[in-house]
Amino acid sequence: MLAILKMLLTSLIYLITISFMAIFCDLTFVENLFEKLQFDYVIHLAAESHVDRSISDPLAFAKTNILGTMNLLNAFKTLWQDQWENKLFYHISTDEVYGSLGEEGLFTETSAYDPNSPYSASKASSDHFVRAYGETYNMPFVISNCSNNYGPNQFPEKLIPLCINNIKQNKPLPIYGDGKYTRDWLYVVDHAAAIDKIFHNGKVGETYNIGGHNEWQNIDLVHLMCRIMDRKLNRPNGHSEQLIQFVADRPGHDKRYAIDAAKIEREIGWKPSLNFEKGLELTIDWYLNNTDWLNNVYSGAYLQYYDKQYQNS
Ligand code: DAU
Repeated sequence: MLAILKMLLTSLIYLITISFMAIFCDLTFVENLFEKLQFDYVIHLAAESHVDRSISDPLAFAKTNILGTMNLLNAFKTLWQDQWENKLFYHISTDEVYGSLGEEGLFTETSAYDPNSPYSASKASSDHFVRAYGETYNMPFVISNCSNNYGPNQFPEKLIPLCINNIKQNKPLPIYGDGKYTRDWLYVVDHAAAIDKIFHNGKVGETYNIGGHNEWQNIDLVHLMCRIMDRKLNRPNGHSEQLIQFVADRPGHDKRYAIDAAKIEREIGWKPSLNFEKGLELTIDWYLNNTDWLNNVYSGAYLQYYDKQYQNS
């Protein structure tokens, strides 16, 4: 993130859409903003991102992720017309667009798109629109598709912060299905570093996969979190593991994601810097030390979502 802040201090004008969702669904607002601030570069990260929410409210995902992205593309096109020198639209996307892997193999940049959830379908669609604007209007673009992120400030609807907070509060740890689903985890700061490198050194019109070389089955990961937290909270060994509860599976649950990140390493010189256990410790410490942030999240809408999502657990 530091690198992104440094970028902001340079003289060129960037739009970085981290949590801009409601706003960029309003085309007139977005066009006026672009007209006024004349962005040279767009780094587009904002999205509805939680698969479970996309299952209960798919239209919200179509609106934000597809129409929202199109609004940004349109405003960028209207602003610069054909004058594309020193301009770039960078779309941050997900490995979920490639669907699910079996026991073997890795997603590469040439894997076919095969999304299975409304969330991944909406991200696949927005990737396609970005590419189409490149082909049709010569808009310079780059796309990256990243594996599962974890780290500070992640909303506790996602597996890792949800479990950290439930362990802390001695609440059940809901594991979907048999828990043998596999994800490739990457520390958020490593993802930010990859974005920075791609932004500066990526080739226009290319896609780069970003991943942690760090596959974990959900159940093993939750056991690891339990062990670390028992130690940090001075609880007896094995205490938190008793909170594990197997619950109904997520519909259309993708079995395994894993990224082949050889291209970004070879062409741009990025690779993950942080060992997973170290990253997990940093993340757990952050959640244990930032109770104000958590208390704020735990009031209101999140609790309603949680009760509805886990009502049978
Ligand atoms: O792969 C990149 C993607 O990773 C991002 O594009 C998404 O925005 C992000 O949400 C994440 O998707 P997942 O569905 O993999 O993340 P989530 O944390 O929701 O779930 C991780 C795994 O844990 C998945 O196999 C489902 C399982 N799970 C999740 C929750 C919330 C459970 O077993 N229980 C739970 O309560």
